[in-house]
Amino acid sequence: MSDFAFAPNPNCVTPDARAALLADPGFGRVFTDHMAMIRYADGKGWHDAKVVARGPIPMDPATAVLHYAQEIFEGMKAYRHPDGATALFRPFANAARFNRSATRLAMPELPEEMFVGSVEALLRADADWMPSIDGASIYLRPFMFASEVFLGVKPSAEYLYLVIASPSGNYWKGGARAISIWVSDQYTRAAPGGTGAAKCGGNYAASLPAMAEATAHGCDQVVFLDAVERRYVEELGGMNVFFAFDDGSIATPALSGTILEGITRDSLMMLARDEGLTVREEPYAIDQWRADAASGHLREAFACGTAAVVTSIGEVRSANGNFTIGAGGPGQLTERLKDRLVAIQRGTQADPHGWVHRIGPN
Ligand code: PLP
Ligand code: COI
Repeated sequence: MSDFAFAPNPNCVTPDARAALLADPGFGRVFTDHMAMIRYADGKGWHDAKVVARGPIPMDPATAVLHYAQEIFEGMKAYRHPDGATALFRPFANAARFNRSATRLAMPELPEEMFVGSVEALLRADADWMPSIDGASIYLRPFMFASEVFLGVKPSAEYLYLVIASPSGNYWKGGARAISIWVSDQYTRAAPGGTGAAKCGGNYAASLPAMAEATAHGCDQVVFLDAVERRYVEELGGMNVFFAFDDGSIATPALSGTILEGITRDSLMMLARDEGLTVREEPYAIDQWRADAASGHLREAFACGTAAVVTSIGEVRSANGNFTIGAGGPGQLTERLKDRLVAIQRGTQADPHGWVHRIGPN
């Protein structure tokens, strides 16, 4: 997997400056010294795999992605284990999802070994960038875009695949233990037949007015309802959602083609089943959510994703009024599932499902 040419950055950040950045990296603002890169051209396939100094990627103004948004991405994290090793969590699941997104956006698939190899090669080059503060990790952002210089509307004949790495702390400002969410009644995220199940940049661009509305209502995130009936809870702007009930069961919206198939979502379902909990994937209506919260049948709700990890939802606000879940703070089951997941990711508990992918020296 290590057939990536390496051209070390001659101007790496100094150790002192790096230590200062890693003391409080926040999310998505600090970047490492290098990036991985692979080119694709019709007829030639994937070629020119390398790790180089991180820097601007000059673009012709007619580059296709700037006009028609043929772009996809992934999000994954690397953790430092107690024995000093760096480990990824289910990276082949990200590789497979990347290819499903590629297919939906009429882009070429990247061999899974190359996807994981690119992330490994970058992490090897930037091993010194792992923050040591509590809860920190290196967030990896593999992405691919249409790089052909052409204004015709058609799948590009050329693509650039890149991976950048961002040492990160908590996703939530202030390290929120329970978040508030805004129910968007004006905007939907994805319609049947659309791109909701793909991780393409356009989905996130289209979610921004709804997210701005959430912020204007004092909320941390937005939750979208289905585009057909405007009734069923789908997911948050960048996270899946779960509900925990007083009978010990948990539920999450079923994958319907409009929801992103989260790797955290899938992992939590398995961990909950390991505990003997009943897990359902089924539609859940917003009115039901409100009624169940009021009756106490719903005990907890939580958001989950790579960036956000697992976070309780304390309050739901909407044009039809607000409601609180439980006491509005972190839920017990939520915290337990989160602790279990994080312990596996960070190598402090056994990994019964073989999810941890340790990165060797080369
Ligand atoms: N849903 C959306 C829209 C997302 O952007 C993400 C984040 O990647 C998720 C769900 C959670 O997916 P995962 O757990 O694979 O990070
Ligand atoms: C991730 O969790 O990896 C995402 O891509 C979500 C985004 C909101 C940061």
